[in-house]
Parts: sequence; structure tokens; C-alpha cells
Amino acid sequence: MQKITCSAPGKIYLFGEHAVVYGESAICCAVDLRTQVRASLSDTIRISSVLGDTGLDHDRYPYVSSVIEKMSEITDIKGVDLCIDSNIPVGSGLGSSAAVTIATIQALNLLFGCGMGAEDIATLGHSIERKIQGAASPTDTYVSTMGGVVMVPLKKKLKIIDCGIVIGNTGKFSSTRQLVSNVALLKKNYPEIIDPILSTIGMISLTGEELVTKKEYRSIGVLMNINQGLLDAIGVSSPELADLIYAARSAGAYSAKITGAGGGGCMVALAHPSEMQLVASAITKAGGEAIITKVTEQGVRVEN
Ligand code: MEV
Repeated sequence: MQKITCSAPGKIYLFGEHAVVYGESAICCAVDLRTQVRASLSDTIRISSVLGDTGLDHDRYPYVSSVIEKMSEITDIKGVDLCIDSNIPVGSGLGSSAAVTIATIQALNLLFGCGMGAEDIATLGHSIERKIQGAASPTDTYVSTMGGVVMVPLKKKLKIIDCGIVIGNTGKFSSTRQLVSNVALLKKNYPEIIDPILSTIGMISLTGEELVTKKEYRSIGVLMNINQGLLDAIGVSSPELADLIYAARSAGAYSAKITGAGGGGCMVALAHPSEMQLVASAITKAGGEAIITKVTEQGVRVEN
């Protein structure tokens, strides 16, 4: 094979971010925003995207460079040309790093005939995210590989949800590594307060599982809003996120909360399909970039 294009999706959390780092349950959905990686055989290593054109570069392309290095341990990669294109906003809580990692692993896997299966891809993706971010749960990389709605850490696939999903991007970069370490510090200093908050978030996910299965969006919304209050309590909200969250709720969304690490980045609202435009307009009016999307069953896939 001379060249191949693979893509992998971003994700939103219905419930459970941050708590999942400590083994609590979370429910995460792959969404219809994707990162595409076109890989072709070459004499040298070249990585290109809107961020620029370079060789192995751990500052500009930490995830892709790490994938190339890791996969060079299992196959002989003399040269490869990787061209990245994405409609997942970077550093915004939508799993852009997991998507580029997983799409790159699958592209190299197929280009060099490594014979990796989906579980191997998700596992390697997780080890790369963990190395770069310090602490990372397997959630983002697993969901990006498998697609659909997934309950973690059980890795249990739930029924796909079919309500409207409106994402609001604050446009403020958020560092997952920083936010995860802020929560770790809070937990270390106040374990008797923070531990019950994290286990309550886990309980929200466990309670939410049946509601997701029954597609009871109003009740899912109630739990997502409670989850938001607890995320605020552990310090991962921001004034910009709060503005978008309350704007979406006031415009009739079932729910609105942070998705991902928080501190900036994105919020997500669930809405009846007939209310999606209203919710999106309210987010825009409150200063965010609104993205209307849906949950997708499609994880990593070949594009050509
Ligand atoms: C980031 O998308 C979600 C966090 O829970 C971190 C992780 O699970 O690795 C904040």
C-alpha cells in the first residue's frame, strides 16, 4: 500500500469528566466532528497541517510525533508523509488530541501492515495521551477508536442517542494537563470534600446509564445540570463557559454543561431537534462559537 487516509471522531461527555481520572464512571459520546490523516510512503518524515510543515516535532505535533516514534518500535518506518486536516477545534475539550492520535495510529497501522486491532489502537493511543498529558483516562482514545456512546471504565457500549447536540466553544484554549493537575491538588488538600464530589459524579453516570438507554432526554438533562454544578465546585468552570451554559439553558436546552477538561474550551447542550437553532443562536449571542452536531456510531475509519 502506498497511501491511505484515516479519520477519527471527537467526543463529548454527557457525564463524568475529571471523576473518570479517579476510576469513577463516565458516559461519553463520539460526535460527528473528525480529524483526517492522509499517510503516504516517503523517504523522510514529514508532518503537515494548518499548523505548518515539519519533520518529527514534539512541540508542534506532540501526539503525531509520539505515534511515529512508538510505532517505529514495532515496524521499520524509514519515512512517511502525514497530512492532517480537522474540523475539531484544538484544545477545546472535544478530544482533538485523541482523534489525531487514533487516526494517525490507524493510518500507520494500515500503511505499514502492523496488524493492530481496535483494542490495540485504543491502548496505544491511551499510553501516548498519558505520557503527554501526565494523567489521562482511556476515555477519549477509546471513544475515538470505537465510536458510539460508551460507558467507562467498563467500556460498555450504550444505545446511540438521537437528540440535538449543540456545542459552544468559548475560543479560550484550555490545557487538560493543567486542569487535571488543579483537580489533583484540590483533592490532595481537601480529600474529605473533593472525594465525595467525585464519587457523586460517578453516581450520576451510573444513574444516567438507564436514562440514556431509554432516551429520556429531560431526565438526562437534569443529571447533566447537576454534574455541571459539581464541575463548578471542583474549579473547572470559567465565566465564559458559565455565560454559554446559562444562555443555552435559557434558550430551551434540556441541559448544558462543560465537556472535557473545562477552564475554557467547550460546553455542550442537549436539545430537542426543533430547539437546536434557538440554542445555537443564544450561544452565538453570548459570545461563543456554536457547532450543531450529532452522536456518531463511527469510530476510526478508512476514508479511501
Ligand atoms: C478530558 O477530555 C477529560 C478529563 O476527564 C481527563 C481524562 O479523562 O483524561 C478531564
